[in-house]
Amino acid sequence: MNRVLRCATALAGATLFLAMTSTALAQFPDGTVVEETLHNMLQSTGSPMDIDDYGEICVYCHTPHEGNAAIEAPLWNRAAPTGPFTMYTSSSIDMTIASSPLGVSLACLSCHDGTIAVDEIINVPNAFSGTPGGGDNIADCAGCHSGSSPPGGFDFSATNMGQDLSNDHPISITYDPGADPDFNPAGSVEGAGLPLPSGRVECSSCHEPHSAQWRPFLQISNANSAMCTTCHIK
Ligand code: HEC
Ligand code: HEC
Ligand code: HEC
Ligand code: HEC
Ligand code: HEC
Repeated sequence: MNRVLRCATALAGATLFLAMTSTALAQFPDGTVVEETLHNMLQSTGSPMDIDDYGEICVYCHTPHEGNAAIEAPLWNRAAPTGPFTMYTSSSIDMTIASSPLGVSLACLSCHDGTIAVDEIINVPNAFSGTPGGGDNIADCAGCHSGSSPPGGFDFSATNMGQDLSNDHPISITYDPGADPDFNPAGSVEGAGLPLPSGRVECSSCHEPHSAQWRPFLQISNANSAMCTTCHIK
């Protein structure tokens, strides 16, 4: 929250900041504020990328009015992805995985399943003139930014998760150490800084979308797998 507030206060200077630091930008994301991270979509606008420049960092995800209340992320400015998704399965799973992604995970997948354009938002800023939306989605980003010497120095080939989540860490799973003794109590997990929204593991249990302090957008450091062992007793 503290970090987010600093983002908001820095916003006024963001355009100037971007104009002045174009060489430094090649090194991002290394920041603790949104504009220094890959979640600053303004850095991806312009040729040869096809994303509308709305001139505001937050608006690609949040709107001050008429947000999508069906998504568990505040004042959400994007539609829900429609799927269908294939969820994780394994014979050694002891807890309950929902049949489709829930909660804040839907917010992440509204870009990261690669089906909805990054600039496809519900509430377009009044100052924008032109036809909004319909630009690149994350599958398009990964189409150019992949391989051994990708443009801009970014390899995004793993960031397009698609709709098959069976090869990704389980999400929308009820966190229940009672069903598996190899897990720490929920209270100690949340106390260590990993949220369990509605008692579940979601994308936001491990990721904080506003800060690249621990790249890639991790909630806490995963040095020596410390994030993994916050939940797993291994
Ligand atoms: C790439 C998408 C994205 C961008 C850009 C973004 N946010 Fe968020 N924001 C989210 C998501 C997702 C959540 C929900 C996180 C959760 O539930 O853990 C969230 C939650 C929040 C919250 C609730 C408290 C918190 O930290 O969870 C605030 C306040 C917030 N965002 C403000 C901002 C501001 C201000 C900006 C612009 C400087 C911004 N966000 C940019 C995705 C984004
Ligand atoms: C508005 C679209 C959008 C939303 C919503 C969004 N992302 Fe992203 N995300 C991007 C883009 C664009 C990139 C950089 C390009 C790419 O990955 O293809 C990115 C990159 C990432 C990366 C890689 C960062 C790195 O340092 O390499 C992670 C991890 C990530 N996002 C997680 C999330 C999570 C978790 C959420 C939800 C809490 C989320 N994103 C929501 C657009 C989005
Ligand atoms: C048609 C190919 C293509 C697509 C699609 C594409 N890019 Fe790029 N991108 C490039 C090239 C080429 C460069 C380097 C040249 C330049 O900076 O203009 C680049 C540079 C970048 C940079 C660095 C900009 C800077 O100022 O250093 C970022 C960030 C970026 N792309 C993000 C994205 C994201 C996010 C997407 C998807 C929404 C995307 N790109 C889609 C070709 C592409
Ligand atoms: C249990 C923790 C955990 C959960 C849950 C989780 N992630 Fe991740 N994610 C990670 C870690 C750790 C990495 C870094 C992997 C690495 O660097 O090798 C990562 C990497 C990524 C990346 C970068 C590409 C890659 O594969 O390296 C993206 C994008 C991403 N996650 C998005 C998401 C989204 C979207 C969700 C929810 C659908 C999600 N993650 C759920 C822990 C998690
Ligand atoms: C927020 C808590 C949390 C974090 C952090 C976390 N996990 Fe998990 N993980 C779970 C839960 C819950 C399950 C499902 C366990 C079950 O049902 O038996 C799971 C399942 C798994 C499985 C699949 C086990 C199977 O039986 O198929 C693997 C592998 C795994 N996690 C590895 C990791 C790794 C590696 C990390 C660190 C990058 C990590 N986890 C971080 C909660 C977490």
